[in-house]
Amino acid sequence: MRGMPAPISGSSLPRILSGMQPTSDSLHIGNYLGALVNWVKLQDEAFETFYFVANLHALTVPTDPQVLRHRTRVTAAQFIAGGVDPARSSLFLQSDVAEHPELAWVCNCLTSYGQANRMTQFKDKVAKGQDPNVGLFTYPMLMAADILLYDAAYVPVGEDQRQHLEITRDIAERFNSRFGEGGLVVPEPYILKGSAKIMDLTEPTGKMSGTTSPDKGLLLLSDEDSRLRKKIMAAVTDTETEIRYAPDDKPGVSNLLVIHSVLSGTGLEQLERSYAGHGYGDLKKDVVELVVGTVAPFRRRMAELLADPA
Ligand code: TYM
Repeated sequence: MRGMPAPISGSSLPRILSGMQPTSDSLHIGNYLGALVNWVKLQDEAFETFYFVANLHALTVPTDPQVLRHRTRVTAAQFIAGGVDPARSSLFLQSDVAEHPELAWVCNCLTSYGQANRMTQFKDKVAKGQDPNVGLFTYPMLMAADILLYDAAYVPVGEDQRQHLEITRDIAERFNSRFGEGGLVVPEPYILKGSAKIMDLTEPTGKMSGTTSPDKGLLLLSDEDSRLRKKIMAAVTDTETEIRYAPDDKPGVSNLLVIHSVLSGTGLEQLERSYAGHGYGDLKKDVVELVVGTVAPFRRRMAELLADPA
């Protein structure tokens, strides 16, 4: 369907909007725990929910068009496999709605070069070898347009998107002060405390990232059980033996504890107590169980969806 997606209910409930880029062959557990779980939950609350595949944003990474089309489809299937319900949420492709790049131009013209130049993701991505095209530089203003176009009140994302939401708020406020109050809704970030930043398994001081992490650092939602097991058992920890949540001193162990805590619903302190006297191997085995228990049904559902092109 092309054009602006119609709201499902036609109601005046506050709106939730979020998107994910189809920049790799599968979403990873960071996308799932940091954002998708929240998207699904919000469908049950008093909101109107809009979720989309950010395939225009993905053009910032030079990709073969056929590969990008495939990844776009996989991402949509993964949203649904994860619990996004197209009967309750408006689910769409960014490239089908020409108003996104149209409003992005207005957002570009409302942003100073200095502010755009302070976006840390651009610098991080370029430092990690990503193509420094102008699209990558103006990416936050397209993201602002995505949000402002729908009058979204809340935007459920991971911690890494916080700065982009700040610039979105600034742009909305600037728009309103120039063109009159009551124009654009100034959105609030909706960031989960515990799971907003899942780290790379091989380098746990950096976030798990579909574009910059090595395969061994990523738990993909398409990975077979044996791959998930191998990656978790090989996750970098430290030379101590104590299982303790201390993200600065023990980033690897802390990351495993966070994944455990979110998937098992057990608090970090309780986990520390229950692992007293146990080694890292025990923690890793339990994380394998939990991750496989979540990803395996997800993978099956995704395969069913992808087998049915309609
Ligand atoms: P993207 O595609 O990089 O990531 C999708 C969502 O997953 C979250 N996320 C994580 N959460 C926890 N730990 C991690 N390691 C991790 N990695 C990613 C992200 O925070 C995000 O919520 N610019 C956005 C896509 C976008 C968007 C929007 C989002 C485009 N327009 C409008 C919200 C509203 C991005 O690149 O996310």
